[in-house]
Parts: sequence; structure tokens; C-alpha cells
Amino acid sequence: MAKKRIAVLTGAGVSAESGFATFRDTGGLWEQYNVNDVASIEGWYRNRELVLRFYNDRRRQLRDARPNAAHLAIAGLEKDYRVDVITQNVDNLHEKAGSTRVLHLHGELTKVRPENGLYDDTYRTDEVIDVGFEDVNLGDLAPNGQQLRPHIVFFGEAVPNIEKAIDLVSAADILLIVGTSLQVYPAAGLYRYARFDTPIYIIDPQDVPVHDKRITHIREVATKGMETFLKMLEK
Ligand code: APR
Repeated sequence: MAKKRIAVLTGAGVSAESGFATFRDTGGLWEQYNVNDVASIEGWYRNRELVLRFYNDRRRQLRDARPNAAHLAIAGLEKDYRVDVITQNVDNLHEKAGSTRVLHLHGELTKVRPENGLYDDTYRTDEVIDVGFEDVNLGDLAPNGQQLRPHIVFFGEAVPNIEKAIDLVSAADILLIVGTSLQVYPAAGLYRYARFDTPIYIIDPQDVPVHDKRITHIREVATKGMETFLKMLEK
């Protein structure tokens, strides 16, 4: 009997209890930085050093970060289900928790790649370099001589993995959404690709801007909400 498939879409909220600031909550990253300066393609070309410093700080924080009970519970689902994690997060906590299939929609903090020309967000996968938790600075060049840039999808750039994510959501028997304000597209529209008979569970302590009769909203933080979700699965 093939295992049932669960697609798990996660956002910054799943890493909040690991000590990472979310983006849009009070005290979130977009209250401390102007998103256009540090997370947009225009910001990159306006001030590369500011952007490199922003991601260096976030990458350093990742070195000692630990997955929390929610990451671990999501990884634990693999015992009984085929689990595909689709994350908007650029941290590696799902992988550290043991999830074996993680699709990053917005890139990965430990990776960099050459900036291939003005407003050119195309790249070859073999150009992507994993720098671990090291800083990357102005003057650090790729083998092709171009300045290294974060392997992060900046606002204004394409989301190359969205097609794969749509396939995973439409193949899912259950869709679980954890810790995302569902305000950034195309990720926020992924739930619409769930089949009409696929139950959707959303774990978030706040209201979320989607209303669909398939949705069960578990209004708890991720670690508590995962316990509630697992109990619902047993029924
Ligand atoms: N447990 C679960 N959810 C939480 C917790 C928690 N402990 N704390 C906060 N949340 C919820 C908030 O209520 C909110 O709905 O997590 C969500 C965080 O929303 P955002 O800060 O908007 O983060 P996210 O949805 O991941 O942002 C999407 O925006 O800035 C870009 O590229 C960036 O990937 C990011 C994208």
C-alpha cells in the first residue's frame, strides 16, 4: 500500500521558535530593514555591500541554530507518509531536523552564485557554491570572475522552483501549511493547486488571509500546532 502523500508549505513562523525573527510580525525583519534595500534586485545593484552584510549576519546566526520540535515533527511524518517540504525559508533547519525532501522556493542562505550581468537572474546549477556559514564580501568572485551574490530569490526575480512546487501540491493527499502569512506570491497561491478533496491544515497563531472550506486552521504556534495536527491525523 503506497504511503499517503503530505505536502508541507512552511514560512518564517516554523523557525520562530528556533530564535529566528519572522518578516512581518511586530519586531520582524522588515521593521528593522527596508526590504527594498536588502531583499530586492534593485537594492542589490544599488548597494551590494549592504545586501552582503545583511545575509552575512543571517548566515552567521544559522551556524548555531537548532531545529525546533515543529521541524522535528515534520521530519517525523516521513515514518508514515511520503512528505515533501516546500519552504519559503532560506535556513537549513528542515534538513537539520532530518527531512529528506525539501524544496526551497526562495533560495538557501548557505549558498551563493555569480551575479551574471545586470538584472540577469539566470544561472547554471553548477555555478551554485555552498559557503556554509562563512561571510561573502565585495571582491569575493566566482570562478567565472563575477561577484558572488546570495543564492536567494530577491523581490523582482523569478521563483524557478514554483512549477515543481505546484506539482507536489497537486499530488498531495494532505496539505499542511505552517507559519506563513501567505502574502508573497507565487508561494501564497500554492494551496489553490490542492485537489478539491485534499484537506488543508494551517498552523498559525494569527489569522491567515485565505478562506476555503477545505481549511482547518490550528490557531497555535508551530510546536504546539504540530502536536494538535498529529492527533487529528490519528482520527
Ligand atoms: N509558530 C507558527 N507561526 C508563527 C509563529 C510561530 N511561533 N510566529 C509567527 N508565526 C506566523 C505569523 O503569524 C505569520 O503568519 O508566521 C507567519 C510569518 O509571516 P511572514 O513574516 O510574512 O513570513 P513568510 O510568510 O515566511 O514570508 C514570506 O516574504 O520576505 C519574504 O522571502 C521572504 O520567504 C519570505 C516571504
